[in-house]
Order: sequence, then C-alpha cells, then structure tokens
Amino acid sequence: MEDTMLEYSKKMATAETMVYDRFRKKESLNGVWHYAIDQYDTCISGKWYEENYYDEGGNTLPVDYSFDEWDKMNLPCCWNTVDRMFLLYEGSMIFTRKFFYVKQKQDERMILKIGAANYLCRIFINKKYVGMHKGGSTPCYFDITDYLEHDNRIIIQVDSTRRDEQVPPAVTDWFNYGGIYRDIELIRVPKIHIRDFQIALEPNSGFQKIRATVRLSESVSDTAVLTVEELGIRQEVEITNGRGEVVFEAVPALWSPENPKLYDVCVSCASDHIRDRVGFREIRVKGMDIVLNGKPLFLKGVSCHEDSAIRGKALSDEDRIENIRNARELGCNFMRVAHYPHSERMAQLADEMGILFWEEIPVYWQIHFDSTDTYKDAENQLKELITRDYNRASVIIWSVGNENNDTDERLKFMGGLAACAHNMDTTRMVSAACLVNYAKNAIEDRLEQHLDVIGLNEYCGWYTADLKMLPELFENSNPQKPVIITEFGADAYAGLRGTITDKGTEDCQAFVYEKQIENIRRISYIKGMTPWILNDFRCPRRTAVTQNYYNTKGLLSADRRHRKMAYYVLRDFYRSI
Ligand code: GCU
Repeated sequence: MEDTMLEYSKKMATAETMVYDRFRKKESLNGVWHYAIDQYDTCISGKWYEENYYDEGGNTLPVDYSFDEWDKMNLPCCWNTVDRMFLLYEGSMIFTRKFFYVKQKQDERMILKIGAANYLCRIFINKKYVGMHKGGSTPCYFDITDYLEHDNRIIIQVDSTRRDEQVPPAVTDWFNYGGIYRDIELIRVPKIHIRDFQIALEPNSGFQKIRATVRLSESVSDTAVLTVEELGIRQEVEITNGRGEVVFEAVPALWSPENPKLYDVCVSCASDHIRDRVGFREIRVKGMDIVLNGKPLFLKGVSCHEDSAIRGKALSDEDRIENIRNARELGCNFMRVAHYPHSERMAQLADEMGILFWEEIPVYWQIHFDSTDTYKDAENQLKELITRDYNRASVIIWSVGNENNDTDERLKFMGGLAACAHNMDTTRMVSAACLVNYAKNAIEDRLEQHLDVIGLNEYCGWYTADLKMLPELFENSNPQKPVIITEFGADAYAGLRGTITDKGTEDCQAFVYEKQIENIRRISYIKGMTPWILNDFRCPRRTAVTQNYYNTKGLLSADRRHRKMAYYVLRDFYRSI
C-alpha cells in the first residue's frame, strides 16, 4: 500500500468497535450530501479535508474543491443507479455535509453508524481523520465525540475499487455497486453503555433455558437487569470487567416460520437502556437431519441477491418485504441470502414474517487464501455479521463462502472462519456452498470436516450439460452430514419461449428445474435446496443478447413483474411436500 494511504488505514472500525443500536434513538444524516468524483484520491493526497484556505501569513491559497458548492446526491444510495454517468464508475467518491451538535448529557458519547459503504470508507470530521472501515456489506461505528464542535463538517471518502486481495475479490458474478447505501446515523449513548447484547434459547435445554450475554463499553463491574415481561422474567446479570452472562429458566412459545412469535426483551445497565424483539427457537443437526425445535424439516428455499433494478443494493423495506413475500408464495420456508450480508432489516423482517435464513460472507471464488490481511478482512466481516444478527431467530446458518477450489490454503483459511463462527455462536449451524468434486463427480470436499451442513452448487442440465451426471453425482456420493443443494438453475430471458433444449428460453429453464427436482427429491441425505435464484440481477459478465448485462437465472424478472415457467415448477414441488 502506498505510504500516504498507510496513515489512512489506521483506526479501523471492526467488530470490536460495534455498538448495539437496534431501537436506540437515532439522529439521521440521510438526505442531501455534496459530492465529487475523486478518481485519484486527491482528497487524501491533497489533504482537502484539512480545508487549508490560508497560509501562515493569512494569504489565501488556491484550492481544488468547493465542498458546499459541489453537486448534490441523496444518501443512502448506490451512485451507479442515480446517474447514468456513474453506472460503471468504480473508484472513490467524496461526500460531505454539515451538521449541528449540542451536547445533551454531560458524559454522553456520540457514535456515527454507517449501515454499509462499498467497499471501504474513510471518515473525516472538522479537518481531522477519524478512521476507516473495510468490507462492503457490514455496518461500522465510530465514536466521534472528541471531534465534535457545535457546527461540524463531515467528509466521507468511499472507494468501490475491486481488488483481488479484498473480500470479495475483483471478479464476482454480481455487479459492483458503489456508495454509502445503508443509513447514516448519529447515536447518543452514555459513556458506559451496552456495546453488545446476545440472547438465545440454550441448545439441548429442552427449550426451557435462555442464555444472555451483555458486554459493556468499559471493563467495569455492575449489574444489568434483563426483563421479558410477557414471560414474567426479570433477571439480574452480574457484570465483571465489562462482561456478564446468565442462563435462566423460561418456557417461551417457540419461534418458527409457521409461528414467528417474538418477545420484547429489555436490558438496563447503569444509565443505558436497550431493547430487542427476539424469537426463541432451537436449530441443530441430529444425525442426518436438520431439526428445528425438535422436529426434522426440509429447507424449501431459494437464493437471492440484494439487487434492485432501480436501486441496486440500496433496497427499500418494500423491496425486502416483496422478496420475502415472493419466496413465501413460492412455498419457501428458507432463503439463501447470498453472497454477502444483506441489510440487517432483512433478518429483522424474516423474524417478523416467518422464514429461515442462510447468511453468508463474500469469500467468493478466487480469494487470496494465502494472505493474512485477506483472512483478517474476511474474519472481521464474519464477526461483524454474527455480532449484528446474533439475536435473529430467522438466521439458522452462517456460511463462510462460496465455490472455492479445494486447496490446502483454502482449507486453512475457511476452516479458520468456520472455527471462528463456531466459537462465536454455539446456537447455529456453519456451512459453505461447495463445488462438486468434478474429478470424481461426487460430493467430496475437505472443508466438510469443519461444517455442520454441506452446501453444494451443481449445475447439471446447464453448465454440466449432460443431465445423466446428476443421478451419478448423487450415487457417487456418501456424505456424512446433511446436504443442501445451494445452487442449481438455468438462464431464461423473461418471456422467451422455445424447446426444452433452447438455452435461454423459459421452456429450457423449466425443464432443468423439473429434472433437478426429479433427482433431488429421491435423495435422503439432501435436506434442503436453494435454487439459483429468485430474481434476475445485474451482472457485468452476462452480455448475451438475451442477458444484456443481467444474470437471468431468476425465477422472476428483475422488475419482479414476470414469473417464469420454472417459478411454477418449483412452487408445485414445494406445495407437494
Ligand atoms: C455460481 C455462483 C453464482 C453465479 C452462478 C451463475 O454458482 O455461485 O454467484 O451467479 O453460479 O453462474 O449464475
């Protein structure tokens, strides 16, 4: 990394600097920001953020920026979708605005939260560098209290450049949207506040014990009080050196897709008060079964990207609800939320609407598995995802990656991530979407030893054109853990009809679904499937005349208006089981 940038890679926001924020009072910085395209990162190399308008002698100096006269953009957004000029722009953009700050309580701290900025962002406040965050799909938090005056300028540099050493690497099969595309908020917290709160039904407790963990912002000793009024629970949590954990008796109504029962949970400690809405359920592997609340189930799923034809990754709640509704109408009880953490709103909505989630970090294809820095980036994104969504009953699987060749470096790298997920969370399963072992045409990947459930992407009838390979694949395999077919599918241009062998037609896609289902439904070790994919999505690698820069494996068109023939094939199957 060039020297100048080294200085601006310090003070990194990570999972360790996150602050529990759900239902906390927030002051929004969404709305109109001034911006400039900064292709050469001159804001940093030229120190624009220091606003040096005069020299020591008071003489005016030439400057190459006009912060408050720049053009305006409404944040959050993906810049690619707000102006045709920026559709394919990848690089840095500088955003700036002013805001007032009036201290309300003597010892309060002011936290800046950015819901997501792709790929990295750097924060400057009142001419000083505050810190940076790497990772395009997880939130970051900065304590900006000591930088604040009454009248403040904030500058955020966002760099969407794809790099092979990043997570994901430079080449993926989805569009690289840039920008600050989730909420930008200010959160006031007491000096000693609840930094993290985790709660879940205790596994193997006969659904009658709940474990809760409270972490404070300072390593002090105190007593927190946890209440679940509807369960008549008032539980003290002894905090020592900033951390407290308690297991207590409770018999909650169990959360499930059929009965998405949520409880209001409150925690108070010193002068901080937080709350959450939590479902209590148990998910586990038992032999070759996936078991929810003691009952084996088949995960009737579908994969989905965070992609809107109009808004890119900056989905609205209506978009998210529509995606979940469309999956539910398919007959799904499960969604593979691929290939990176979607907005926290997704799992919150899934808790309310009743659907199970596979969530994933973008350890995708050709990751630099031999790089320590790349591992740290991947592990931090995993920790940020688990910290963010730990209390979400809908989330049942953490996935540590997708379609990575079975090499020694990859085994060490992803084995480490799986161990990290298991250490952070004993209440969920860990998986990954693995490739077929093509040499043997079998399900056989050394990573399986680190996983609770094996994800398998296979494209028989499409990339593997010969459909005879499918029954042979399953016959050749003898997995010792439950398998979820995490991808199969075919491209179909919405509305295009033809024969079942005409690639790109709906007839061909429907035929592939029919043959896939005919085979999968016979295999007892397959306990779920998430065909690729719910909606067509933008993708720079897809330029055929029937694709037009979209991956058209969707069961629905990109605008969600057209349901292709394969949608009904899958729906009929899910309704039949
Ligand atoms: C791969 C990959 C997806 C991709 C899909 C496809 O399996 O995991 O991200 O979009 O295949 O080729 O359409």
